[in-house]
Amino acid sequence: MRRLVAEARLSVDDLVAPIFVREGIEEPRPVASLPGVMQHTVASAVKEARHLAGLGIPGLILFGVPATKDPSGSGAFAPSGVVQVALRELRDELGDEMVLMADLCLDEYTDHGHCGVLDGSGRVDNDRTLELYGRVAVAQAAAGADVVAPSGMMDGQVRAIRDALDGAGHPEVAILAYAAKYASALYGPFREAVDVSIAGGGDRRSYQLDPRNRREARLEVAEDVAEGADLVMVKPALAYLDVIADVRAAVDVPLAAYHVSGEYAMVKAAAERGWIDGPAVLREHLTAIRRAGADLVLTYAAAELAEALQA
Ligand code: PBG
Repeated sequence: MRRLVAEARLSVDDLVAPIFVREGIEEPRPVASLPGVMQHTVASAVKEARHLAGLGIPGLILFGVPATKDPSGSGAFAPSGVVQVALRELRDELGDEMVLMADLCLDEYTDHGHCGVLDGSGRVDNDRTLELYGRVAVAQAAAGADVVAPSGMMDGQVRAIRDALDGAGHPEVAILAYAAKYASALYGPFREAVDVSIAGGGDRRSYQLDPRNRREARLEVAEDVAEGADLVMVKPALAYLDVIADVRAAVDVPLAAYHVSGEYAMVKAAAERGWIDGPAVLREHLTAIRRAGADLVLTYAAAELAEALQA
């Protein structure tokens, strides 16, 4: 009876798995703060994607770790950039078996670690960054991305990317906008996974949302939808379930939530100490994210959840 009347369900169909692909390594390398997560070579990323597809996971999202960084983050839009190389291989190997998403940002590729380029006074230059985001989108689309996912929280990024994609003959490529992305302390393990530290001990509070704000998330989401976002995202997830519920009620496009690195790492760390039942907590957390209103969830636990859901 409980099964029949359950209001929220978690299914493998809801899951998107992040994959890190690193340029210039010969073997995959574990990420210490994200147990079970690797920095992949292009070849091992393809193997991992095959494994995920075999588990029935419908989508993956790629993050690149370039061998060299520069002020404009050129590795993000070079045709030879590591994500573009990986996308071409994944498309060749997987065909249409999985939805291929690419995180679209500059922070992994800039030597200062910000999500955009800097002006003369060291501030992020929103509008010059938009031009570069357009180039990244086109490079990712040309390499085979089905979905580009701008995560930089620049104003006007969705429209700039839509225009660039349409102008370059990629009208079918969808945009998953990180629309309500908070300046959160929960991204720590991710920054280790992508080797990013922000110059001068800086932070992203000038472009990401203030965790104290709830209504502002609705404004950000409405702007992104008006600019042409096909899907929108709230990030992180668990500390922002109110925001997920608000956004679900406010818009009708599909809603994603990002169960971020810190959320995953906390569960793993406590479980390792035997303080909590890790698999049970993960399932409860992911179910709560669905109950709050997310249609799809990006999570480092995608593979283990898929296995548990099959069992
Ligand atoms: C930016 C980006 C970040 C994450 C995804 N895309 C980091 C940031 O904004 O600092 C974080 C994801 C996570 O913590 O799992 N490219």
